[in-house]
Amino acid sequence: DLGLASYDPGFLNTAATRSAITYIDGDKGILEYRGYPIEQLAEKSTYLETAWLLLNGELPTEQQLVDWENDIETHTIVHENLKRLMEGFRYDAHPMGMLISSVAALSTFYPEAKQIRDPAIRLRQIHRLIAKVPTLAAFCYRHSLGLPYNYPRNELGYTENFLAMLFRMTESRFDPDPVLARALDILFILHADHEQNCSTAAMRAIGSSDVDPYSAYAGAAAALYGPLHGGANEAVLRMLESIGDVKNVPGFIERVKNREVLLMGFGHRVYKNYDPRATIIKRTADQVFEVTGRNPLLEIALELEKIALNDEYFVKRKLYPNVDFYSGLIYQSMGLPVSMFPVMFAIPRTAGWLAQWQEMLEDPEQKIARPKQIFTGHARRDYPAERK
Ligand code: SDX
Repeated sequence: DLGLASYDPGFLNTAATRSAITYIDGDKGILEYRGYPIEQLAEKSTYLETAWLLLNGELPTEQQLVDWENDIETHTIVHENLKRLMEGFRYDAHPMGMLISSVAALSTFYPEAKQIRDPAIRLRQIHRLIAKVPTLAAFCYRHSLGLPYNYPRNELGYTENFLAMLFRMTESRFDPDPVLARALDILFILHADHEQNCSTAAMRAIGSSDVDPYSAYAGAAAALYGPLHGGANEAVLRMLESIGDVKNVPGFIERVKNREVLLMGFGHRVYKNYDPRATIIKRTADQVFEVTGRNPLLEIALELEKIALNDEYFVKRKLYPNVDFYSGLIYQSMGLPVSMFPVMFAIPRTAGWLAQWQEMLEDPEQKIARPKQIFTGHARRDYPAERK
């Protein structure tokens, strides 16, 4: 028996992965982290508190949260050589390519990280990754503008610090708008984990070889980079910009229905209903636009959604907006270039990748990833005595 009953051509592994971290009901559009509904976490929690929840299974006590935030703050700075590594990239290097490379390089700065079976060493790498990825992400953005890199200022909160590293132009103070900082924190909560998606499956598969977490992270981020996955937020904006005007939407929809193009930001491997994250992001966008001004591309996105949700082609295929459909409009309105959007997905997913990696390592039945194969090639045959 080749386990055909559980074989699905769309999946890397033919066996399901056991996990207690995130629950999704794709038909009902339900998403819960450790049992807490995403809607409640987005309203009441912070990204760092949610990261603790994903990693530890429970919400932290007040003291645990204070200690956790301090642990993260002590690791936000990166070795100066990372700047020199980044300076080697072309001026127009894609930020996601730079982030993947620089996180992989972190493995050479922390050789102790190979001892991942030591819980204290493992936890220190978790602190380092959650703390340093925003710093490296901001470096990527500054590099793309040819601007000096900003160092973290730990008196600021997690998303405030990141916004300041992105946009502070001189050594003078930079006070990020609190509405934008909170909106970014909500976006980070929404993107933190999502069960066994492509990049998380990569994190688990690569991590199952006992490699260090920086190398596994680089592989997961590489999977996320794809336009069918975390690169979709970038692809959505390029799609909206190519449509250009609301009057071009019906023509674009026809091209989708003729299978000439995909409606980026729509559809999902699991959700066959509205992605609950898209609902919250759409509401958060309105708050952001109060501060930044309405993103002119929003009208095109709303028209695409209105037509698609009432068109048999999309309804029959259960295609709804996913997490990537509206997020890019917010990032663009915050002042980020489209190429930074996949990086904005990778930053918060750091917590989910690490929680899933940790769960995999702590699972006593976990073995190195080795997906089953159904052999479809030649039956045994002999080497020919001569060749035609
Ligand atoms: C993320 O897995 C996760 O959890 C991922 C993620 C996370 O948090 O980690 O949620 C993040 O990756 C969200 C998805 C972002 N990607 C995009 O927005 C890219 C556009 N979407 C599609 O590429 C697609 O919907 C996928 C890749 C997301 C899902 O692909 P599936 O599972 O193959 O889609 P499906 O089997 O449900 O498709 C059913 C039908 C097919 O048509 P038929 O062959 O049956 O006629 O719908 C069509 C598909 O061709 N279809 C689309 C479409 N998505 C599916 N047609 C037009 N536009 C689309 N976007």
